[in-house]
Amino acid sequence: MVKRGEQMEAIIIEDLVKRYGQFTAVDRATLRVDEGTVYGLIGPNGAGKSTIIRSLLGLIPYQGGKVIVSGTDMSTPDAQRKVRVGYLPQKAAFQEWRTCEQALLTLGRLSGLEGERLRTRVDEVLDQLGLEEHRKRRVSKLSGGTLQKLGFAQAMLHEPSVLVLDEPMASLDPASRFMFKKIIKDLRASGTTILFSSHILSDVEDLADDVGLLQNGKARYSGPIDGLERMVSLRSELVVELADDRGEWRSVSVPGTDIRQPSPGWLVVHIDDAAQWDVLASRIVEALMKAGCHIRAFNRHDPKLEDVYMAYVGGAK
Ligand SMILES: Nc1ncnc2c1ncn2[C@@H]1O[C@H](COP(=O)(O)OP(=O)(O)O)[C@@H](O)[C@H]1O
Ligand SMILES: [Mg+2]
Repeated sequence: MVKRGEQMEAIIIEDLVKRYGQFTAVDRATLRVDEGTVYGLIGPNGAGKSTIIRSLLGLIPYQGGKVIVSGTDMSTPDAQRKVRVGYLPQKAAFQEWRTCEQALLTLGRLSGLEGERLRTRVDEVLDQLGLEEHRKRRVSKLSGGTLQKLGFAQAMLHEPSVLVLDEPMASLDPASRFMFKKIIKDLRASGTTILFSSHILSDVEDLADDVGLLQNGKARYSGPIDGLERMVSLRSELVVELADDRGEWRSVSVPGTDIRQPSPGWLVVHIDDAAQWDVLASRIVEALMKAGCHIRAFNRHDPKLEDVYMAYVGGAK
């Protein structure tokens, strides 16, 4: 692991370039994941999330840049054996004729588990993912969501220090999604580093310490979520609900603010200077009351990652 300030970095991707023929799928992407944190890789379909993930795991060759996982350069021979990584591919695939239990036993052995330890871990992950009732069921008989759970079980079976999940929650029902999030949070609490990709922004917001925003193979941003919000300069708004709206607010003007009425009874106030937010917000409320507005409620509305994302990538697909 490499030290950055106090934090160790579990994953370093630097200037990564990956081409499929003439097409550049990843274009000098740089991102870093601190040890013991959860990193959300977001971007629209085709942005290059799966390509970055497969490159970082050493599963496909890349044309430029450097990938270091747990201190090991992934392009060196043996890297795959040295680094304890768990991986859930976007589409988990198993040998169809095996039962869930057999599949996990086989894959656990490949990850270096054996004997009592292997059996204990298989029992634990089956239990954690609610797969006990499917233990003896053949893989070919599983629904998409159950298969995804088996994929997650496989990825965490050998207790990897780095876990990479490609769109882990994409095909899940709400209960399973909740279960996955809980497991990710628990794993983080026990020190596992997790990188996951998603186009479901609320998942990233719920789970991630840091985010990477990908667009057309380029890493547009990598860092804390609030930094991304600041970067696109979406401001927190003051939302005011009026008891009866007779338009008195039209006479109110406070420099540095801008009042709009999206629908009768509701005002949305933009405040330009984030540093002055509290001062200007109270000035607006006072001015509204002085003008005779009857305020029922007012509230601060912070931009959601969804808004930031849309402001950034727009409708780009
Ligand atoms: N094996 C491949 N051969 C050629 N092009 C590919 C291949 N895999 C992915 N691509 C292209 O690379 C781009 C990035 O794909 P991908 O990494 O799967 O994006 P994401 O996971 O963000 O949806 C897309 O334009 C996709 O069509
Ligand atoms: Mg993908």
